[in-house]
Amino acid sequence: MLHIIILAAGAGQRMHSNISKVMHEVAGTPMIKHVFNTAALLNPNKIHIVVKPKSQDIIESFNSPLIEWAIQEKQLGTAHAIQQAIPNIPKDAQVLILYADVPLITESTLTPLISQMDSSKLCLLLAKLDNPFGMGRVIRNNKGAIQSIIEEKDATPSQKNIQEIYTGICCINAETLHDLLPKISNNNAQNEYYLTDIIALAVQANLSVSSVTANNNDDILGVNNRAQLENVERIFQKRLAHTLMLKGVTIADSNRIDIRGSLQCGTDVYIDVNNVFIDNIDIGNNSIIEPNCILTNVKIGNNTIIKANSILDNCIIGDDCQIGPFTRLRPGSEINNKCAIGNFVEVKNTKIAENSKANHLSYLGDAIIGKNVNIGAGTITCNYDGAHKHQTIIEDGVFIGSDTQLVAPVTVGSNATIGAGSTIRKDVPKDDLTLTTSVQKTIHGWQRPKKKNGD
Ligand code: UD1
Ligand code: CA
Repeated sequence: MLHIIILAAGAGQRMHSNISKVMHEVAGTPMIKHVFNTAALLNPNKIHIVVKPKSQDIIESFNSPLIEWAIQEKQLGTAHAIQQAIPNIPKDAQVLILYADVPLITESTLTPLISQMDSSKLCLLLAKLDNPFGMGRVIRNNKGAIQSIIEEKDATPSQKNIQEIYTGICCINAETLHDLLPKISNNNAQNEYYLTDIIALAVQANLSVSSVTANNNDDILGVNNRAQLENVERIFQKRLAHTLMLKGVTIADSNRIDIRGSLQCGTDVYIDVNNVFIDNIDIGNNSIIEPNCILTNVKIGNNTIIKANSILDNCIIGDDCQIGPFTRLRPGSEINNKCAIGNFVEVKNTKIAENSKANHLSYLGDAIIGKNVNIGAGTITCNYDGAHKHQTIIEDGVFIGSDTQLVAPVTVGSNATIGAGSTIRKDVPKDDLTLTTSVQKTIHGWQRPKKKNGD
């Protein structure tokens, strides 16, 4: 039986934030969610999360029957934090202890720890660090057996030279916790109840203590301030990029990609620099994302190119399309195959059928546009009367001349042509040319105003 405790009751003062530390996001997901998701992969019976009082933000962000919440009234140390979860843990369980501010921990680093519990009562996740400053050091006897963990603030100068550290993550059997936790005192430099003191107590009680050394030191990085948060974010992004590249996606620079959700790509997708992918993104084969695009919940077909500086939000784009540069597709936009949506075109809640084009400077809102339609530069659907939104329907094969306003609700019949500069207030019949005219006149001899002397 496996119970997991996630410690999340730290003060987080070094973040200088009004948000709980563990709610700060890595790749668009709160740190604690990353730890929870990894924990859930281990199929535990329960996940106990220890939080400080007034942690509604954390508690309300979860909705899982796996979770048992424990409140630590005062932050008296890691042993005291664990004690808060103990009443809900059966004595015959194995207990895995994780930190909510160590978000890069992986399933593959944790499984060996749990396997070791067949032969030991306590298994520690250790690491070797070039700079072990701030971490608990592993004290071994002359036979190499682990004796205790000494915190930085309690360590002698020679102990401080030890590079083998305790990551804070361990697996321990619940009975050992029940027996030894009450014996831990706070007689140390920080007057805290250190969970790490349980190691020396276990050795004294002749319980077998084992260890696993993390083979990737990134996995065990803790986040205490925003510089560490940024470091962890970059490592996580590099991991996501690496996985995509190994699956056949070309990424121009894995230091300049941000995936804040899930990004699925077909084969031979090319992702240029500085793109941000939010929520669920699906990109088909041979499609290209040029630099500086922001994509939120977007599905893109095959052989489509998203040109630079486009912002695509909750929309669907088909095959063989050209979008951008500088296109904004807002929620509800559905662009079918072989369409071209060009620069400074904004589309909202609009369906565009195959092979239609709106290449320059347009606003298309609440519209249904047929296939083989050409929307001239500067065309605007006037969809809003100040109180309500109205629909514009443009049927197949329509040609709309530049600088046309379509005052909705309005329908343009199939194969109609609209002359440039028209303001269309009534439905337009199919096949014919429709235009509104304003008379062009010339005033001969007219003079431009001039500044008077001294003005
Ligand atoms: C702890 C370990 C240290 C280890 C290091 C790895 C102890 C005494 N020391 O030190 O050996 O090298 O982690 O990062 O355990 N927390 C609570 N309640 C508390 C105190 C802490 O929930 O009263 C939580 C924090 O939110 C954090 C974790 O426990 O997630 C670690 O606490 P922290 O005070 O940061 O311990 P370290 O000094 O880093
Ligand atoms: Ca810490």
